[in-house]
Amino acid sequence: MAVEKTSAWLELQQHAEPLKERHLKDMFQADAKRFERFSFSFDKYLLDLSKQRIDDKALEKLIDLAQQQQLKPWIERLFSADKVNDSEQRAALHMALRQPEGRVLRHEGEDVVAGVQCSLMKMQQLVERIQQAQWRGYDGRPISNIVNIGVGGSSLGPLMVCDALEQYCPAEVRHLNVHFVSSMDGSELEKLLPKLDPATTLFIVASKTFSTVDTLANANTAREWLLAASKQPIELINQQHFIAATASPAAAKAWGVPERHQLLLWDWVGGRYSLWSVIGMPIALKIGMGQFRKLLDGAHKMDEHFREAPLENNFPVLLGLMGVWNINFLDIHAHAILPYDGRLAQFPAYLEQLEMESNGKSVNRAGQRIDYRTCPVLWGQVGSNAQHAFYQLLHQGTEPVMCDFITPAVRYDGDGAELQEQHQLSLANCFAQSRLLALGDSMLSDNEGASSYKHYDGNQPSTTLMLEALCPETLGGLIALYEHKVFVQSVIWEINPFDQWGVEQGKKVATSLLTTLAGGAGDNLDASTEGLVRFIQEQTRGVTDEG
Ligand code: F6P
Repeated sequence: MAVEKTSAWLELQQHAEPLKERHLKDMFQADAKRFERFSFSFDKYLLDLSKQRIDDKALEKLIDLAQQQQLKPWIERLFSADKVNDSEQRAALHMALRQPEGRVLRHEGEDVVAGVQCSLMKMQQLVERIQQAQWRGYDGRPISNIVNIGVGGSSLGPLMVCDALEQYCPAEVRHLNVHFVSSMDGSELEKLLPKLDPATTLFIVASKTFSTVDTLANANTAREWLLAASKQPIELINQQHFIAATASPAAAKAWGVPERHQLLLWDWVGGRYSLWSVIGMPIALKIGMGQFRKLLDGAHKMDEHFREAPLENNFPVLLGLMGVWNINFLDIHAHAILPYDGRLAQFPAYLEQLEMESNGKSVNRAGQRIDYRTCPVLWGQVGSNAQHAFYQLLHQGTEPVMCDFITPAVRYDGDGAELQEQHQLSLANCFAQSRLLALGDSMLSDNEGASSYKHYDGNQPSTTLMLEALCPETLGGLIALYEHKVFVQSVIWEINPFDQWGVEQGKKVATSLLTTLAGGAGDNLDASTEGLVRFIQEQTRGVTDEG
């Protein structure tokens, strides 16, 4: 039976009706213990759901829904290497990437944990060679700039973590700069390359498939730059200036990266779940292998919590169910991610892929179209900057939005008073905004009788997630929390979060349009695209004629 016809779903629908009209300010007024009741703690995290429009019964019924959807058995299937990615007949074993050495997890007869440790060891050797100035470019000088060429999961995760953990960069490797290049039009390379010395620059071509045109186009441009500058044979340039992080060693070899400079992952690691694998090499280069392993440890702790904690106290389960409640029962279809910490500036962009590429689906596991909403539109920015950008809409717009406020409790321990004050300022703003969004201007004594354009309705629900402090362990746990939250929602919605067929067709259409743009016969075009192509051809002709 489709989930929206089940008793748990129907009961939730019924229960939500009066709650749609209830205001959070009344819920807080009616219950002085709301925070105690709806906040949860685990390890170094606090999850406050009290500003969500829930009551005890809603939470109870959401747990019933999770049970009815067999969430616990699904979690077991995920962790036991079952082929939960059914449309591609693959397991989704990113958790194996952060299992401690010595654990055993069998997949198709092989112990994947042993394989993971082996590949981490190879990565460690390359990382240490580079960090210890033993990897030398074509003129014998050591490498000082590393450029990660990758896109989507082969960039967003490592970029986000490198940015977040910059302060963990050990003094002895501060001479190494790590850069990220993704955009297919070459504009990032165009900006970056003139600042680099080709002889001391190393490129990591990060691509699980080693067939993504964006990445290969950038890698080709980078290689041409090196060849032109060095006047060295291509074999030497491939060998001294390129590393491949991939699950397609044959394709990487055909492109030119020798086997000893290839770092491998497996088809059971989804691209957007791959920062824990060799795709995370830029992270290890930036913060060192020891800190990289702490990131893995933090994620592993969250894995164990997800697998073992009862549903009622389980962070990823609660976070996932809150989304389901808002989306499917309170009709809220926009989700803002608001870290109050500049180090997490890239976190919203990372989550955009994780959540929307995973759960942006409208067909269930049985291949049937579904009749209920799934992943909402999700976006975000550092909260305090967003206050001066899109918070106007959150406070006074017509769109209901659910928000995740994320902040460390402690920061700048041991640093100057000014910075500590800035952290207090940030915390005050974080709490002020979630408070105002929830309660509206009823909480402001000086806003009584204000004209309508100064009025704040409130009643925008939010979750506040606090970390004791931002460090490799807690960041690892935070990322794993959202990974598992996405899985929880997929189980409720009966969809496969591990494929992404929706991005494939566009790639094929682009290939055919490339032929058309070059003057060849392409597909039959619609009038709009035909007009756009004609404009390009006219402009190009104009430029050529003038030239
Ligand atoms: O096109 C989408 C996608 O396949 C993502 O899922 C993936 O993270 C990204 O492209 C990059 O893929 P690859 O690592 O194979 O280059």
